[in-house]
Amino acid sequence: MAHVEAIRIVGGARLAGSVRVPGAKNSVLMLMAAALLAEGRTILEDVPVILDVAIMSELLRRLGCEVEHDVVLGRLTIDVPAEPLHQADYDLVRRMRASINVLGPLLGRLGIADVALPGGDNIGSRGLDLHISGLERLGATVESEHGYLVARAPGGLVGATLWLDFPSVGATLNLLMAAVLARGTTVIDNAAREPEIVDAAHLLVAMGAKIDGIGTSTLMIDGVEELHSVTHRVVPDRIVAGTWAVAAALTLGDITINNADASHLEIALDKLAQAGADVVVHDDGFRVRMSKRPLAVDVVTLPYPGFPTDLQPHFLALNSIAVGAGMVTENLFEARFRFVQELARMGAEVRTDGHHALVRGRERLSGAPVEASDIRAGAALVLAGLVAEGITTVHEVQHVDRGYAHFVEDLQRLGADVTRIQTDLGTGAP
Ligand code: UD1
Repeated sequence: MAHVEAIRIVGGARLAGSVRVPGAKNSVLMLMAAALLAEGRTILEDVPVILDVAIMSELLRRLGCEVEHDVVLGRLTIDVPAEPLHQADYDLVRRMRASINVLGPLLGRLGIADVALPGGDNIGSRGLDLHISGLERLGATVESEHGYLVARAPGGLVGATLWLDFPSVGATLNLLMAAVLARGTTVIDNAAREPEIVDAAHLLVAMGAKIDGIGTSTLMIDGVEELHSVTHRVVPDRIVAGTWAVAAALTLGDITINNADASHLEIALDKLAQAGADVVVHDDGFRVRMSKRPLAVDVVTLPYPGFPTDLQPHFLALNSIAVGAGMVTENLFEARFRFVQELARMGAEVRTDGHHALVRGRERLSGAPVEASDIRAGAALVLAGLVAEGITTVHEVQHVDRGYAHFVEDLQRLGADVTRIQTDLGTGAP
């Protein structure tokens, strides 16, 4: 019988100590796609050792790049040929939706890109209409053929004014990366302004792009003829930093989180303070201490600088053992409450109604076998296991591996009783 890995947690430990946050997953994937815009060697520093980076590396290799990840130094080297290929295959795109973000740079540089359609995933249907209509406004024709999006602009893209109906992270990045090599000026209005977009814009500027309004919801791009490769350090992962902050609050712990930018997590840290945590910001990060059972907090997910949807499951777990009741509202991904059923298996009292979840805090959860449905749900279930009585086994950990580097090792160093174990495949969640 085949074996797969799970994370086994014995609840009850108080987490204390310090932890270092690596570069952001959501940033590095876009920076890797942006590397396609210039021939030569792009070097990214502080790149996390996670599955999604391996998948994106494989995608770039298939496009003709040489990619090397020095996992000790955290350095990723991408050697881009003069003429990269232009097809992103289904077997990779279906494993990682962010692959769709090679569309903009390939189209901008080569005038052609064929990228497999990703389909739905475990957090919802996730449309591509904003990506497509934006590229069309820049002069491309985009068609769906045999499961692929085929985008063409044989004469090159031409700058235009684009208004996004919604500040989509992926669409903003795709259009930004397409526009930097377009002829003339592009304006992207109602652009997303997540720190990962700011990071990608800084990389592009270092490569020779002309971008104004970085960090605002109006990006103005003056197209240039060509870009050159550079070395760039990836912005710290605010979601990983937020995960450790919630871990401290949940376990009545004391964690110093280094290489983190508190200004990227203002609302989330303020919510933790409302829950009763002591949050102290320092030069290189922040410290979160908790001395009593948390108070429940209301959370509403919104595009940045609103509360991040990627930390919603963690706060739902926090509310599940808090004093009082908290309302969690999910505005970005309709299926993100799927993991609530798993949390309920651990005794959490959650009632969902559409995009609201009412969580009534209980004194403690009860360890159980559960299944991760996506990266963040998986991490939140591990955190819940830390405060559950007895043993929790989180299955389908490959989801957690997509976004969290050395998660189990860091948890162990902070004092948690956590191990990776082998389980039998095909028996459901034993
Ligand atoms: C990115 C992040 C993900 C995060 C999300 C929201 C990466 C690799 N992933 O995902 O971790 O949870 O931002 O902060 O960076 N939408 C459309 N049409 C489109 C594009 C998006 O309807 O053309 C909708 C989506 O279905 C969703 C919402 O817009 O409801 C937000 O999606 P978007 O901001 O694009 O998220 P991603 O870039 O996919």
